[in-house]
Amino acid sequence: MMKTQSVDTAIDAKSFEAIAQLAYSESGLQLAAEKMSMIQSRLRHRLRALDIPNFENYSAFVCSEDGRHERRHMISALTTNVSHFFREKHHFDVLQKCVVNDFLPRLRSGDRVRIWSAGCSNGQEALSIAMSLLEAVPDIDEMDIRILATDIDANVVQFAKAATYPDRLISGIPEELLQKYFSRKREKEETVFCANSKLLNLVRFNELNLLSKWPMKQSMDVIFCRNVVIYFDTETQNRLWPRFHQILNPNGYLFLGHSERIADPQASGFETDGPTTYRPMNSANQTSSASKGK
Ligand SMILES: C[S@@+](CC[C@H](N)C(=O)[O-])C[C@H]1O[C@@H](n2cnc3c(N)ncnc32)[C@H](O)[C@@H]1O
Repeated sequence: MMKTQSVDTAIDAKSFEAIAQLAYSESGLQLAAEKMSMIQSRLRHRLRALDIPNFENYSAFVCSEDGRHERRHMISALTTNVSHFFREKHHFDVLQKCVVNDFLPRLRSGDRVRIWSAGCSNGQEALSIAMSLLEAVPDIDEMDIRILATDIDANVVQFAKAATYPDRLISGIPEELLQKYFSRKREKEETVFCANSKLLNLVRFNELNLLSKWPMKQSMDVIFCRNVVIYFDTETQNRLWPRFHQILNPNGYLFLGHSERIADPQASGFETDGPTTYRPMNSANQTSSASKGK
């Protein structure tokens, strides 16, 4: 029988530096030196899974050509996936107003509407969007409206696709909505809540690294990118804003997390429209600021 080697759990500074650089170039994640012991504990199970005895060997492997597959596991272990239903509820209120005032007339005239949950984690954000849409317009799922939900972490995308939530992950869903959109069942001796097809038909979950090329052909009407860029440095954030601007419809919305801001919204063509809410500057605004500069 093969003996599993014991893991020398301490991460040395050189290995940490190599892993931090790799995480940054692969995913934009910034791993501060103060987080060294957290990184160590998050990656320890990867060393065990690969039967690698220390971080020196692990960092050499994960940075090598052969470590390509392991990089995905490493990023998955390093990302923070905390999320909950109806987190920062004010954005869902804005969304519902937008559904009634803007989307519905457009959908009824045959237009399509696309919403993107970028950095969707376990799917709570995308399903909260779906519930908000259906609560605003109960037959909206029969119209051309879809939610694209993406994340770099393959594990959370797989979890989101299964859409089965244990008790501890459903906080935030009002009881009435839980009854309406989820079915309750027993699984492995615990009660779980499965999202129903009315919700799931509205959402597509996919893996996507925000730093890579985006395959989407259609423009977006709303982008939720909340509690994601907080892990990126300013340079990475500043490269992202113009890309969001480019893919967003002129009347669209970009929602960020409570502690995230676009440092210079105008520079990337956005204007603030409420707390952590941005909209593309309209052409009238752009003309007026341009003429002010003359
Ligand atoms: C804290 S969760 C936020 C989830 C949800 N948006 C919310 O606000 O509750 C951050 C998510 O961003 C994802 N993430 C981090 N870097 C990413 C990248 N480069 N591309 C796509 N997703 C990324 C992580 O995997 C994680 O699931």
